[in-house]
Amino acid sequence: MKSLSDFDLKGKKVFIRVDFNVPMENGKITDDTRIIETLPTINYVVHSFGKAILCSHLGRPKGKRVPEYSLRPIYEHLKKLLKVPVKFLEEITGREAEKIIKDLKEGEVLLLENVRFYEGETKNDLEFAKLLAKFADIFINDAFSVSHRAHASVVGVAQLVPEKGIGFQMEKELKYLSKIVGKPERPFYAVVGGSKVSTKIGVLKNLLNKVDKLIIGGVMANTFLAAKGYLVGNSLLEDDYIDVAKLIIKEAKDQGVKIYLPVDVVVERNGKIEEAELKEITREDKIYDIGRATVELFSQALEGAKTVVWNGPLGYFEKTPFHRGTVALARKIAALPGTTIAGGGDTILAIKLAGVETALSYISTAGGAFLEYLEGKELPGLKVLKI
Ligand code: 3PG
Repeated sequence: MKSLSDFDLKGKKVFIRVDFNVPMENGKITDDTRIIETLPTINYVVHSFGKAILCSHLGRPKGKRVPEYSLRPIYEHLKKLLKVPVKFLEEITGREAEKIIKDLKEGEVLLLENVRFYEGETKNDLEFAKLLAKFADIFINDAFSVSHRAHASVVGVAQLVPEKGIGFQMEKELKYLSKIVGKPERPFYAVVGGSKVSTKIGVLKNLLNKVDKLIIGGVMANTFLAAKGYLVGNSLLEDDYIDVAKLIIKEAKDQGVKIYLPVDVVVERNGKIEEAELKEITREDKIYDIGRATVELFSQALEGAKTVVWNGPLGYFEKTPFHRGTVALARKIAALPGTTIAGGGDTILAIKLAGVETALSYISTAGGAFLEYLEGKELPGLKVLKI
């Protein structure tokens, strides 16, 4: 793939697919990490006398103009972050759009309104992609986190524009994430948590071919514990996936990968919060976190790792005191000397809760795309950029 720095940008319309799908509350941005991460790319275009045209989605408005998903608050924020003129285009079709493109000067920035306000976006409609291509002499994808979507602004427009490549944020993501799927430095350990085995089967199976140890926590560990014959009481459980968990346990054994599961848990029992060993779990118990012995076991298992990848919390970390296991593990991972990579929305929140966001080697800004990448899938938004 070509890099942004391979192009002569002077006087060119540089269409940058960014991911400004940031968390918002009452019209206010609550975390602008994804915006901040794209500033090097935007500034590079500006300083190279290109015309930066930014395109993003926000939420899932399903092809309709939904005011709460307008990119206007992001435009206001962007104006404060950038030191050059920034314009906003509410309607990307019609005269106004044509005029604004024509009048856009070198070194200026134009933000387009939410691309998912148009039906053609998620359908990857050719006519809609042609419309977007009007904004592009050069197409740059700087949104790894949306590259698993074969949408018009990610794939369709890239197919129509001969000059295309990736931005600096994308380069950074790929530099670290390729360490996991390529040739990771060994020993390589994975920590996988979160709520569902069903959404992570692909990830677990692909990781089995790569890792030396697989540490499993979170709600999904319940399904594995049930597969091993333990009672998990009234806890969340995916009954339909017990057989899949059994298969993963068997495959791990065949491949010499050691699987680590909780040995004790924090449960809610008759309205009280207690620690319990696996054999003490009763039918009424609800498991909400890993216990102290498990934190110790997992921490020891991680010693000596040269590469660690982490996705998914190990307990119901949003609710005190069930955050303890996840926070302890986050701190342990952050303190490891090897390459430590984490990703996924909840995982990022947990890392922030633990206060270790600057201590990991890399935190991906992606959620779904991170998982698909870990599954070993080729992301359509990257495939289309190959030369
Ligand atoms: C994300 O937040 O993971 C990306 O912006 C993709 O959003 P989507 O799941 O709505 O496509």
